[in-house]
Amino acid sequence: MTNEDNRLSEAPPFWSELRLPSLLSVDKVQKLHAAIETDWNPLQRTACQTAAGRALWKHVTNDMLAELLAGETQLTSFYQKIQKDCLKQAREVSGVILAVRTLWFDSKLEAAVTFLNDKEMLQVVLLGAGMDTRAYRLECLTNSHVFEVDFPQVLQVKASLLQEATVPRDNQQEIEMKAKMLTRVEADITGQDWLEKLQNSGFVPEKNTVWILEGLLYYLSNCDAIHVLRTIASQSTLTTTVVLADFMNKQSTMLSKSTFQFYCDWPDELLPSLGFSDVKLSQIGDPDAHFGLLNDPLNMFDKLRTIPRSIEIDPEDGTPCCRLYLVQASGFPI
Ligand SMILES: C[S@@+](CC[C@H](N)C(=O)[O-])C[C@H]1O[C@@H](n2cnc3c(N)ncnc32)[C@H](O)[C@@H]1O
Repeated sequence: MTNEDNRLSEAPPFWSELRLPSLLSVDKVQKLHAAIETDWNPLQRTACQTAAGRALWKHVTNDMLAELLAGETQLTSFYQKIQKDCLKQAREVSGVILAVRTLWFDSKLEAAVTFLNDKEMLQVVLLGAGMDTRAYRLECLTNSHVFEVDFPQVLQVKASLLQEATVPRDNQQEIEMKAKMLTRVEADITGQDWLEKLQNSGFVPEKNTVWILEGLLYYLSNCDAIHVLRTIASQSTLTTTVVLADFMNKQSTMLSKSTFQFYCDWPDELLPSLGFSDVKLSQIGDPDAHFGLLNDPLNMFDKLRTIPRSIEIDPEDGTPCCRLYLVQASGFPI
């Protein structure tokens, strides 16, 4: 055994070998994933990349449908990144940010549901829902109406893939909806009519609502991102609202200028200026965004947290300070 094999064998057993679920070899599922690879644009394919990250961290995210939704190509490519990290004993393994982000949104959603829950059904709107499976994963949504908003292509293929998971087969776990209701709303949120489409699908502006914008804002232009946030703020004047969103700072978006657009270094100042209150900002590694996943004493997230947020370049080693802000805000009726 070489030194490299040795190091890999120290990785969690889950990562020592990529085992694809048998469902991914079902003909219909293969055809759906082949169509994703050929027909979807890079923005839409981020839905599957994110699902691949959650699948490879499923021991933490508990997302048992993520492998099916990610597909073999994305799983293999994400797995190779993890394998490389394990071989070089990287301080941070690929996907750890996604795992922390998933758990942060889960925990804040659960807290918001508890806070907002009244006798009426609560609404949870996932903008840019992609391959999110919270409607199937989270027990706290048993009295919630979940709305998933994304491009038609994404939501149609997602529904077809999930349909395959309901076909009775040997060794296949039954999938069970946890949310009281789930409605998929096909819309481009950079268009003018997505709110109308949401309302036509049963969204009631007067009902308490949690909005989830996870892995979304930085793919939008500055103008579109602000417009979406303003639209949500305008709904918050009618009822109590909680918004959960992640924001990249400028240095993070510069990692891929062709992919990322909107950035915000101070979401805790931006959101109040748009009408939100009670803004709470966390960084990866903060006590509410740690989840026991960042245990290397020299991990980069702890280091970043010691550097003031106004600093763009680490004065010690000259690397850019790339940050992901996890932000919670509220809106109350006026
Ligand atoms: C990185 S994925 C994140 C998906 C999901 N929120 C998650 O965390 O798994 C971004 C998603 O936003 C969707 N999206 C981006 N721009 C959009 C737009 N203008 N209208 C609707 N959906 C959009 C993409 O199709 C994709 O599913």
